[in-house]
Amino acid sequence: MAPIVQSSQPWVEKYRPKQVKDVAYQDEVVRVLTNTLETGSCPHMLFYGPPGTGKTTTALAIAHQLFGPELYKSRVLELNASDDRGINVVRTKIKDFAAVAVGTNPKKGGYPCPPYKIIVLDEADSMTEDAQNALRRTMETYSKVTRFFFICNYISRIIEPLASRCAKFRFKPLSEEIMSSRILYICNEEGLHLDAEGLSTLSSISQGDLRRAITYLQSSARLFGSHISSKDLISVSGVVPENVVEAILKACKSGNFDLANKEVNNFIAEGYPASQLLTQLFDAIVEEKGTSDKQKARICKKLGEADKCLVDGADEYLQLLDVISNTTKAFCDMPEGLSYEG
Ligand SMILES: Nc1ncnc2c1ncn2[C@@H]1O[C@H](COP(=O)(O)OP(=O)(O)O)[C@@H](O)[C@H]1O
Ligand SMILES: [Mg+2]
Repeated sequence: MAPIVQSSQPWVEKYRPKQVKDVAYQDEVVRVLTNTLETGSCPHMLFYGPPGTGKTTTALAIAHQLFGPELYKSRVLELNASDDRGINVVRTKIKDFAAVAVGTNPKKGGYPCPPYKIIVLDEADSMTEDAQNALRRTMETYSKVTRFFFICNYISRIIEPLASRCAKFRFKPLSEEIMSSRILYICNEEGLHLDAEGLSTLSSISQGDLRRAITYLQSSARLFGSHISSKDLISVSGVVPENVVEAILKACKSGNFDLANKEVNNFIAEGYPASQLLTQLFDAIVEEKGTSDKQKARICKKLGEADKCLVDGADEYLQLLDVISNTTKAFCDMPEGLSYEG
């Protein structure tokens, strides 16, 4: 069975750096944490920043490097969003783990083994405010023997009393160079061929999120074999091809509603996701030359409204029709409202 497990292992796990020093691009974080590893003393920590930038990786790496494989199980509790972390769990499971005393282990196998446990709360911004509040006491009561690592995308969703007790580390979106070099490394290890165009496409569609980039790469490799093109990557990523977006914009600019309607019909028939189109239209509109700020604002306002409606479960076709009719009118400086002739 072993080989099957091996081949189906997600590359995000396979290529997750095991040591803090191997976490790329987050230099300041790495510097401070390396120091922690040397002294063994560490505060409560809060890692925040966009997805796929190394937060979970860093937290797991530091926990492993502090305790080594033998002690890890008894000293580290990992809880992520898929675990129940409601107020009851905070009151029972987390509290029980936090309350256990730890012995002062002699350094085992060269690991610092400091005299405390670590509780990693991944995706902590999905915890309810009540649960977070319940944590305050636990944090204080057991601060001698327990350190908390909170990980989140949005620091504003962590209640102030928790955030203020932590050393905060911001993770930056990864630069294209860093993404490219990690991707090339993986291609090399996996025996994949990815040309320069494919590489730049991959960096740009994943927008600083290395997890996404690696996932797209693995999906493409599964579907298309070892030679991967820019087109393959776009097709697994669900990104709408540039020429489709351009055709829709062109139809809107022409002022011909029937033409724009036809483009929307094609778009829906191809099965692209509408919300993705809104995102890409937004990027395209912001960059538009020869369109006034007022026109852009009018278009973008509707893009936002349609996005909200889609999240609420509205019909994709109707929302897109609304968007393109509004965009057409804005481009042609037609008044808002329902009356439309043409
Ligand atoms: N700074 C980084 N250096 C090296 N690899 C990274 C970095 N950030 C993300 N990765 C890669 O992306 C994957 C997801 O990273 P993860 O730490 O889980 O992201 P998140 O910030 O969302 O917790 C990892 O498996 C790793 O391979
Ligand atoms: Mg994570």
